[in-house]
Amino acid sequence: MNTVISDPGGTPGQQKESDTGIIAQGLARSFGTVQAVQSIDFRAAPGEVTALIGPNGSGKTTLLLMLASLLRPDAGTIRIQGLDPAGDPRAVRALLGWMPDTLSVWESLSSREILTTVAALYGIGKTQARMRAAELLEVVNLGQLADTPARVLSRGQAQRLSLARALINDPAVLLLDEPAGGLDPGARVQLRTLLRQLADSGKTVVISSHVLVELDEMADAAVFLSKGRTVRSQRLAEVSPQGRGYTISSLDLDALRRGLEANSLDASYEPNMENTGGLAKVKLPGEMQAAALLGLLVGAGVPITAFAPSSGLLEETYLSLEDEMP
Ligand SMILES: Nc1ncnc2c1ncn2[C@@H]1O[C@H](COP(=O)(O)OP(=O)(O)O)[C@@H](O)[C@H]1O
Ligand SMILES: [Mg+2]
Repeated sequence: MNTVISDPGGTPGQQKESDTGIIAQGLARSFGTVQAVQSIDFRAAPGEVTALIGPNGSGKTTLLLMLASLLRPDAGTIRIQGLDPAGDPRAVRALLGWMPDTLSVWESLSSREILTTVAALYGIGKTQARMRAAELLEVVNLGQLADTPARVLSRGQAQRLSLARALINDPAVLLLDEPAGGLDPGARVQLRTLLRQLADSGKTVVISSHVLVELDEMADAAVFLSKGRTVRSQRLAEVSPQGRGYTISSLDLDALRRGLEANSLDASYEPNMENTGGLAKVKLPGEMQAAALLGLLVGAGVPITAFAPSSGLLEETYLSLEDEMP
């Protein structure tokens, strides 16, 4: 693992902020009369996974293509590690990993051949290319299928090959367009773990999706798009000052109610029809308070059967900004 993810070098504190990660401002891009991107500001910091979230047609792919130097903006500025993709596409591509939403692989080649061929395009020598392909095939769990033609890969396997391809040049900046789409739950967990490791090693990771739960627990920051505009950028650690909703289930709803009232907590209650149990929904300011409350309830003898956030962090943020959507 460590061998494929290099240290991007340099002490972060020594670099200017504008020379690391992604900074895009005032981006616009039309296709004929369709204004795919109208006004997007976007930042992604090194060492973090930034989620790009918006419904279909909100401009995610158009934005990512502009960041990847594959499409010119009509207006606005982009800096990728301090470089301008429109002015210096070769330099930008050299430090970028790009995983498109639709996969087109050379289907008669094997996964290994595809990776070594792409490595050659990046000017990586033969021996090193072979080593790197072998390492990456293990990273994305395709070792067993390395030498079978890519056309036999399932959608999820092809997605993983596409991810390996995006990592071949050990990019400092990784752009992934809806990568979780074809993945089964196990592969999604692996993707999350891998992206975490990449971010922790100092890389800038951007991942788009129109399905909120795919990105939950994956992202450090989120940028929400709607109709070609940025509607909010937010760090997820500082989500909703009024707290998160928790659902608490108990075999004895009255005991749970007494326990919550004893802690001056307002809750809504839903009794079970069959027995004395039920659940309560309550807002708590943070995880510390949640842990403390659980301890108090259990200590008071309330028979708790479940205690968890009612929805994912991203979902909660998304719902909280629905009113702000244009
Ligand atoms: N090459 C193109 N030609 C014409 N319209 C396009 C093109 N690419 C994107 N669009 C339009 O721009 C809008 C944004 O598309 P896209 O960036 O693909 O959104 P997303 O990735 O969020 O689903 C959509 O209305 C889409 O139909
Ligand atoms: Mg798209």
